[in-house]
Amino acid sequence: MKSIFPRRTMSPIRELEEQLAALRSAAPFVPTPWSIARRMLEMAEVGPDDTVYDLGSGDGRIPILAAQEFGCKAVGIERDRDLCRHSEDRVAELGLEKQVTFQCADFFQADFRPATVVTMYLLSAVNGQLQPRLASHLRTGSRVVALDFEVPGWRSERTDTVCSEASVEYTLLLYLRTPRSQRSTASIRGSGCAVEQDRAVVLQGGGA
Ligand SMILES: C[S@@+](CC[C@H](N)C(=O)[O-])C[C@H]1O[C@@H](n2cnc3c(N)ncnc32)[C@H](O)[C@@H]1O
Repeated sequence: MKSIFPRRTMSPIRELEEQLAALRSAAPFVPTPWSIARRMLEMAEVGPDDTVYDLGSGDGRIPILAAQEFGCKAVGIERDRDLCRHSEDRVAELGLEKQVTFQCADFFQADFRPATVVTMYLLSAVNGQLQPRLASHLRTGSRVVALDFEVPGWRSERTDTVCSEASVEYTLLLYLRTPRSQRSTASIRGSGCAVEQDRAVVLQGGGA
């Protein structure tokens, strides 16, 4: 009798590994507009003592901008070799080697412990997979800014809806790593290009 099931071309484990790999790369390279990148860093109140980590750093613009305009150290983690090479070339051209480094690596394997600020322009499913690692690596006082896609399971401290120079609307979500005793639960959602709203904090998970 003819089977109604498609013939397997690989083992179930290999198939599962490929599906997981596809999920983990489910954030293609889409650069954040410069003005929005700047707003993300401003929202996190980045200063010279900070170390900014951009997870999936693309062409390296956020770490480079952070070093140039905010005077901090910055690290980009990007698994696409061409984008890493481009980012490193740009850093060399700008003479920012002491401030900015790139790791050509999978951010699911990365060490975020040196970070005081993390920026992410990734899909919510990917943010959700990163959440436990971020929660366990980040210290109290660290800030996470996610663009357009929330981190499932976390409540944001603040949400800003802002327009890029091309009048495209973006949503910036700020999460704070607070001591457990200071966590609160307020929640407001901003909308519209002219709107910016504050809201109360919580970054859940991990031990702080
Ligand atoms: C939407 S782009 C954001 C680029 C940059 N952060 C920006 O805001 O301009 C997402 C980036 O994440 C990278 N990426 C996706 N999965 C990754 C992974 N597992 N490890 C490291 N980088 C990854 C992609 O190659 C892509 O460059």
